[in-house]
Amino acid sequence: MVPLSPAIRSLIDSRKPGHSLPGGLYTRDDVFAADMEIFFRRNWIAIGLECDVPEPGDAHVVELGKSSLILLRDDDNTVRVVHNVCRHRGARLLDKGTHIISKLVCPYHQWTYELSGELMHAPHMGAGFDRSCHSLRPVAHVNVGGLIYACLSDDPPQDVARLVETMTPRLAPYDIANAKIAHQCDIVERGNWKLTIENNRECYHCLGNHPELCLSFIDLDFGYDPATLAPEDRARADAHEARFASVTAQWEEAGYPSAAVLPQADGDTNFRTQRLMMNGAGESQSPDTRAACKRLLGTIGSTGLGDVHLWGHNTWNHFMGDHAVIATVIPLGPDETLVRTKWLVHKDAVEGVDYDVDHLTSVWTATTMQDAGLVERSHAGVGDPAYLPGPYSTFAETELESFATWYLNQLRKHGG
Ligand code: FES
Ligand code: FE
Repeated sequence: MVPLSPAIRSLIDSRKPGHSLPGGLYTRDDVFAADMEIFFRRNWIAIGLECDVPEPGDAHVVELGKSSLILLRDDDNTVRVVHNVCRHRGARLLDKGTHIISKLVCPYHQWTYELSGELMHAPHMGAGFDRSCHSLRPVAHVNVGGLIYACLSDDPPQDVARLVETMTPRLAPYDIANAKIAHQCDIVERGNWKLTIENNRECYHCLGNHPELCLSFIDLDFGYDPATLAPEDRARADAHEARFASVTAQWEEAGYPSAAVLPQADGDTNFRTQRLMMNGAGESQSPDTRAACKRLLGTIGSTGLGDVHLWGHNTWNHFMGDHAVIATVIPLGPDETLVRTKWLVHKDAVEGVDYDVDHLTSVWTATTMQDAGLVERSHAGVGDPAYLPGPYSTFAETELESFATWYLNQLRKHGG
């Protein structure tokens, strides 16, 4: 069990259902330590993409708290994840970032590992030394249609199977495994990781903050109180609901899974997915809502397949016909969170011919910067002694209640 102090337990017990979390759960160092252990070591987390390592010998280092993981593709084209810890005296094998390697050679005493993780050479260790006992330690991982999820626990939650089963057919036509990363952007938000995730779980804030994103998002999807709608808006909402149900049925009939799959409050692996319509031309989250890349992803033959959303507790994703946007969230401290965003296009799409990077990335670059400002603003407020947890909208913030319930269930499950 993860030790939880009486102070943390009291914060957990004091949480009022339907309200934001007590401030200490966002700001305290000991809560952050418990979060890292429970949510970023014992649970499955998104760490990267198969297309981060497109060729044999490609390696990509992902840092996560005190751990450092190497995502790599070996000579047999197998994607692997190993701990970035030498089996001699523990030195880091690779520095941060991306590398092209033929072997993993420790810079300290040159122990040399195959890309499979097997130790092949360890100078001057004597005749009795058994190399086979000193392979690099593998990290449990699953490939979810080209998205790589890892778990640092010795006993990873089994219910990741539901994520794999749900998303593999949904993502297959997009061929994310073979996509190309057209652009990547890292930003550090000055706030707790849960504020980053909560901010992403609602679009209550979108109309007031995301003019670029709102061109392609349909405002009625943000959640609304039907009792307060004017008659004309009520008619528009009814028409939208009917059209959305009909379009979803058409997508499903055409072989594109689209219906909502919701998180399970008592499950370990928290995810939600749904294919949604987009506004305007309905093709893409671009400045004109039209495809921002001429070459469509995978075997997608149409820009009329909406936007497959996938949310997890450290990731959000949008899969559109022309491109995909993948965000992963890695906490750096109680008040600092790395948000890594990647824009994917078809592997054969040519920059300057099929797409323009600025045009492709402008909506989510603006949105991410706007969200970073909101998260910083929230973090400052929840750390103020005057902060009192406030009520969620039961129309626009239902996913926040779902996330908070799951978060507290996990703390109770793993906390001793
Ligand atoms: Fe790696 Fe010695 S610590 S070879
Ligand atoms: Fe936002």
